[in-house]
Amino acid sequence: MLDQNSLKLNVAKAAVEHILPLLQADTILGVGTGSTVDLFIDALAPHAHRFRGAASSSERSSDRLARAGVRVFDLNEIDYMPAYVDGADEVDGSLNMIKGGGGALTREKIVASVAERFICIVDESKLVSRLGAFALPVEVIPMAMSAVARRLVNLGGNPVEREGFVTDNGCRILDVSGLDFSQPAQLESLINDIPGVVTCGLFAIRGADLVLISGQGGVRKLSAPSVS
Ligand code: A5P
Repeated sequence: MLDQNSLKLNVAKAAVEHILPLLQADTILGVGTGSTVDLFIDALAPHAHRFRGAASSSERSSDRLARAGVRVFDLNEIDYMPAYVDGADEVDGSLNMIKGGGGALTREKIVASVAERFICIVDESKLVSRLGAFALPVEVIPMAMSAVARRLVNLGGNPVEREGFVTDNGCRILDVSGLDFSQPAQLESLINDIPGVVTCGLFAIRGADLVLISGQGGVRKLSAPSVS
């Protein structure tokens, strides 16, 4: 029986195999954040010479990429990336995701928005029939914490401040349980429209294009309809 770390390692290696054909001398790859992505970066290291570099969604991943020999570019220097690879806290059958357990949700959403394809890498514990058992992270400008929390309560949520945590953008996180995820894209818009919210960790307006799911029987793929 493989433990969760072994499952993460397997999906990280599978993701490297999947993206190898995309890696050309001028390729910039989008790289997310988290323990699964850490293993992906490690598995990518032997191939660092094959491509130009990466755009990263966190200081944590930037440091690890640099140690792996991958040059890290400022996103402002980049206008195209064939793929963005990242983990998730939950993913459903329609490829909607909750992200931000590590607090990097905003940069993740920004870097992913520049990429042609979002490749999500998870172990099977992250696959759910409906999102919401994992509290939704919402990044908030510090002066707006109380105002945003009240609005989230009005939406049916139970926001809890992530104690002592400051994001790479100098902002705070509210972890929100109790929300209704029956219409994920609408919920994402509603929360993102609250003044003071930087963004929420719901990735439904732009979900994944491909999910690699690591289980005891190996790594399987879940695709959006038009993606192979
Ligand atoms: C980071 O902020 C998150 O969005 C991660 O992508 C997510 O929490 C998955 O992390 P793990 O790979 O550590 O489970």
